[in-house]
Amino acid sequence: MKNIDKIQLGHNGPFVSKLGLGCMRMSSIWGGPTPNETESIATIHEALDHGINFLNTGDFYGAGHNEILIGKAIKDRRDEAFISVKFGAIFHNGQWLGLDLRPNSIKNFINYSLTRLGIETIDLYEPSRMDDSVPVEDIIGTVADLVKEGKVRHIGVSEITAQQLRKANEVHPISALEIGYSLADRQIENELLPAAEELGIAVIAFANTAEGLLTGDLKAPLADNDYRNHFSRFQGDNLLNNLNKVEVFKQIASEKSCTPTQLAIAWVNAQGDHIMPLVSMSRRSRLPENIAAMDIVFTTEEMNTLNTTFAIGAIQGGTYLQR
Ligand SMILES: NC(=O)c1ccc[n+]([C@@H]2O[C@H](COP(=O)([O-])OP(=O)(O)OC[C@H]3O[C@@H](n4cnc5c(N)ncnc54)[C@H](OP(=O)(O)O)[C@@H]3O)[C@@H](O)[C@H]2O)c1
Repeated sequence: MKNIDKIQLGHNGPFVSKLGLGCMRMSSIWGGPTPNETESIATIHEALDHGINFLNTGDFYGAGHNEILIGKAIKDRRDEAFISVKFGAIFHNGQWLGLDLRPNSIKNFINYSLTRLGIETIDLYEPSRMDDSVPVEDIIGTVADLVKEGKVRHIGVSEITAQQLRKANEVHPISALEIGYSLADRQIENELLPAAEELGIAVIAFANTAEGLLTGDLKAPLADNDYRNHFSRFQGDNLLNNLNKVEVFKQIASEKSCTPTQLAIAWVNAQGDHIMPLVSMSRRSRLPENIAAMDIVFTTEEMNTLNTTFAIGAIQGGTYLQR
């Protein structure tokens, strides 16, 4: 396997791997089988071996389990890893209760994250969402104070609007925007992506496979205990329509001699030098396939076909990502 290219986070920001390792599914979050911790740690190690140094977590992933796991994995390899942490989402028994973005809460959260990770500074710290209960100025201002204290190196944001992004960037330079982006979810192309590009903010794009839709492995109906049954995209006629679109996607992947997942990652990667595909991988066997996806290039004709087939609105129904 080759080493991965680099991407710069913001103006004069750090260079990190152009492919990011999403660690969320290394902890139990939405139910399903308990992930294998030994394999998860081995996956982080093998990713680092191949130059994938951008590790993404949230303090609420597995109620802190994810940070503890990453802490174990990087114990002797801190200098090789770039740690990105989201905060502010409040869960109880796996149920979303809302956000807590109050300045005092943020100052409290970070100390727990640092302890669980076993590090002194978080490389990229991000409010997981924004809401109207706390002004953007106060949220970003508090994280900026943590930068001054040396507890945070760079500030990111996640799942916010173009207006919020501009406001946040006025308070303190924002290095990265973490956002769901795939051929199935392209609404951000209207306002948010142009704003990020204009402001020189890197885009950390997750859910490239659109909750597995673009892996080509889904069949209707989903199993009764599949969490995706809650999303209208995976229900009834929507799912049938969407799986028809995925057949076109699978055909293009086959013509390019790649897997549908590789095609999904490659499309995101091709959207710009400032855009990072952030991919969940909980087992080492995923790495060769997903690293190879970073080498896939498209002809203009292939790109046009994909963009037309998956124009905004072509995939029916939503997931938790709909804005
Ligand atoms: N900011 C936010 O609001 C937010 C929200 C969600 C996620 N995230 C971050 O973004 C990361 C990625 O998001 P995601 O997990 O929703 O989407 P994703 O990367 O599309 O992953 C979805 C699933 O694809 C599987 N997968 C990976 N490589 C594959 C391959 N080559 N073939 C078939 N399946 C493959 C993974 O399985 P395995 O795990 O079994 O390898 C995973 O369960 C997360 O880990 C998290 O760090 C951020």
